[in-house]
Amino acid sequence: MKTKLEQIYNDALKDIENANVLNDIDEIKLNYLSRKGELNSIRKNLKNLSDDEKRTVGALANEVTEKLYAALDAKYDKLYRAELDKKLQTEKIDLTLDGKYYPQGKIHPITQTINEITEIFQKLGFSLVPQEHSPEVETEYYNFDMLNVPKDHPARDMQDTFYCTLAENIVLRSQTSGAQIHVMEEQKPPIRVIAPGRVYRNESVNARKNNFFHQIEGLYVDKGITMGDLKGVLNEFTRLYFGENRPTRFRSSFFPFTEPSVEIDVQCIMCQGKGCRTCSGTGWLEILGAGMVDVNVLKGVGVDPDVYSGFAFGMGVERLAMLKYAIDDIRLFFNNDIRFLKQF
Ligand code: DAH
Repeated sequence: MKTKLEQIYNDALKDIENANVLNDIDEIKLNYLSRKGELNSIRKNLKNLSDDEKRTVGALANEVTEKLYAALDAKYDKLYRAELDKKLQTEKIDLTLDGKYYPQGKIHPITQTINEITEIFQKLGFSLVPQEHSPEVETEYYNFDMLNVPKDHPARDMQDTFYCTLAENIVLRSQTSGAQIHVMEEQKPPIRVIAPGRVYRNESVNARKNNFFHQIEGLYVDKGITMGDLKGVLNEFTRLYFGENRPTRFRSSFFPFTEPSVEIDVQCIMCQGKGCRTCSGTGWLEILGAGMVDVNVLKGVGVDPDVYSGFAFGMGVERLAMLKYAIDDIRLFFNNDIRFLKQF
């Protein structure tokens, strides 16, 4: 038994010495020290020995066990350090290397501008028209008829509006103003809404015109709404959007769905009103059309013009973004040139 124990001890020490990785340690423990290991099989046989032998062999078995644990612990420590060192060596971070480039997505400048303008009008008490009341594919009825645009009006000319060739009376909307009709059909006054969205025009594309662009429509209908309210709200808008000191002016104009009608100009930001190519020498740039909702439009949707009145407005989002950021070509918004888009 004693020699057997010495044999086991020497074998185990040899195995420990030969261990190369941490897993080997576990294996050695299993082979020699576990319940099914070699030392335990010796202990199981102790009962066959005389009391005297039991004592010496038992003591020796305990000593061997302790020594093996100590040897295993020491080896474990050594291997653990070695593996850690290796890991640190191979996974060392070189702080002088260039960082990896992770491109970051951004919100498109047109969407940013729409969001900014929407927030301004929300502060002024306007709410967003639900998407279903502001469709991009429209009937002539909403895009023109109900907005008091007669059949022979030049705005209906094939030059301006994209007509659907598959079905009659279907157009890609040329303006967001149709949303006014949808809302007034659904909702009784008081109404105070805005409707941002894309519109389409059959234009030849150049630096100032694209065949689609974005508008924000606004509508305020209630008892006793006057031109004073229109001026108040839209002046406040230009102040909040362009800042305190940008001069604006109201100019009388014409739209079939408003009477009276106005346009608002802001002083040209390229030349500060001196007159340049961007503003065709006038020193002013138009940003929106507006007016008091025409009596015919109110009657068409069953709103009594003797009780209610309102104002409406429509602004070009690209124009507003171009003026704020001094961008001189509308096509830049749609070319998807990352160098341009990155700046916003
Ligand atoms: N829809 C007009 C356009 O596209 C803009 C406009 C003008 C909208 C006056 C309005 C308005 O609501 O009252 O040119």
